[in-house]
Amino acid sequence: VILQKGELVADVGRRFVDADETAQANRRWWDSAADDYQAEHGAFLGGPDQARFIWGPEGLDEEHAQLLGPTSALAGRRVLEIGCGAAPCGRWLAAQGAFTVAFDLSARQLRHAQLLNDPKGPGTVGLVQADARQIPIRDASIEFACSAYGALPFVADSAMVLGEIHRVLRPGGRLVFSVTHPVRWALPDDPGPGGLTISSSYFDRTPYVESDADGRATYVEHHRTFGDRVREIVAAGFTLTDVVEPEWPEDNPRTWGGWSPLRGRLIPGTAIFVCDKPGG
Ligand SMILES: C[S@@+](CC[C@H](N)C(=O)[O-])C[C@H]1O[C@@H](n2cnc3c(N)ncnc32)[C@H](O)[C@@H]1O
Repeated sequence: VILQKGELVADVGRRFVDADETAQANRRWWDSAADDYQAEHGAFLGGPDQARFIWGPEGLDEEHAQLLGPTSALAGRRVLEIGCGAAPCGRWLAAQGAFTVAFDLSARQLRHAQLLNDPKGPGTVGLVQADARQIPIRDASIEFACSAYGALPFVADSAMVLGEIHRVLRPGGRLVFSVTHPVRWALPDDPGPGGLTISSSYFDRTPYVESDADGRATYVEHHRTFGDRVREIVAAGFTLTDVVEPEWPEDNPRTWGGWSPLRGRLIPGTAIFVCDKPGG
């Protein structure tokens, strides 16, 4: 669970929040947090001089993992990045020769993506502001879709988002997405020893919510168990081809919120789902 508390946070806890309130809260939150997020993590994710496609805080990158398939096969393919932030993944894909479109709910995150887009360079990404619940792209027009912690950990209706991604992918297309590993929801979001003791039920799907003094949600994340994720992927029409739980590498000393070398060596922090749309 990503914890970056703004000044407006009066209450932090678990309570029901519907899909629209979730989207409104997260759009405002990412607009206000984008500058700090990019200042803190931008270089690790791949700044202006170095395009990288990182799947999560462990630092697993697509260049080595090749979860979308062989990198050499990306040139000329149509790729969509979901919840792109500053679109680091999209820039790397474009640098491999893919025609890449990336979208995000937050205008401020997209502003960072725009600033990093080099119109003269090889890695130019088409940028769109959109909600993953309604992807403004026609049916069966994309060959690959990807998301590194974008949209799916945040939305109330991840089944609906998976349905949208399935709609825009061509038969034979592939979706790969990463989210907070579901097991982390049973533990405090603490990178130190405090984050190693179970403090709540893994089975409690009540969203994590930060609220302002008026009780209005200002930041929301929604939990799905591992089984929930698998069932939603299959129900959307995908074949689940692989699940990757990256191990924490010895050479990564970096702490990112509740993700740290201490916890990373003992329990997974990220789950990456490789999903194929049958046909093609
Ligand atoms: C943790 S960031 C990940 C961004 C990027 N992949 C990265 O690694 O920096 C999550 C992103 O999801 C976006 N997001 C949250 N809810 C969304 C939604 N419903 N539709 C589209 N984007 C959304 C946020 O605006 C934010 O930029």
